[in-house]
Amino acid sequence: MIKVGILVSGEGSNLAAILQSCLSGTLRDRIHPVVVISNNLKDNVKPKCKYYNEELRAKEMLKENYSKIAYYLIERIKFSKEIIYDNTLCKILQVHKVDLLLLAGYNRVLKVYTYKDTILHVYANKIINIHPSLLPAFPGMNSVKKALDYGVKITGCTTHWVDEGMDTGKIIKQKSCKIHPEDTLKMLLDRVHSLEHIIFIETLVYLYLNKKI
Ligand code: GRF
Repeated sequence: MIKVGILVSGEGSNLAAILQSCLSGTLRDRIHPVVVISNNLKDNVKPKCKYYNEELRAKEMLKENYSKIAYYLIERIKFSKEIIYDNTLCKILQVHKVDLLLLAGYNRVLKVYTYKDTILHVYANKIINIHPSLLPAFPGMNSVKKALDYGVKITGCTTHWVDEGMDTGKIIKQKSCKIHPEDTLKMLLDRVHSLEHIIFIETLVYLYLNKKI
């Protein structure tokens, strides 16, 4: 079983999809989430971890191969330097013996430092990101709005390995959807989001079955 750590900054809907699949979907007995770290003060993520732990207990899996998922809220602003923040996150992931790191709506770019004890170094080639566009189109923030404003007729989402660039790592999977003339931003955001929840699970199953993780 692959132990995953998950970094989040948003509402955690991708996180919820992953956790649900680990409990009772195709990721069960394959992927085991051990730690979630959020940097979002709104803290919508903690209840999702609590739910996961309660469901695990209900299934009495805690005494077998499973352990409870740990949850941390860690704000960047509490750290004087980016490298200290990064290093703290990295240490937490290591304490929980994370094999694979998932960025499920994490709003910071992982940086390369000469100092070696940082996330990109320790988890090199073991980090997967999800992005709400068909990369390499529309990297960075507000990708769904950019696609709508640009007038492209097809958009979607991408999972990719993380390197030192912004949304530049090797693509693993993509899913597309049409943009209709009457689409509002909200309609398109919802459509892309629904695809994201499917593609993250499919990506992990694909990598697991092909022994790439
Ligand atoms: C997703 O669209 C993700 O691709 C982007 O941020 C959003 C996070 O959504 N980077 P959620 O927190 O999983 O609901």
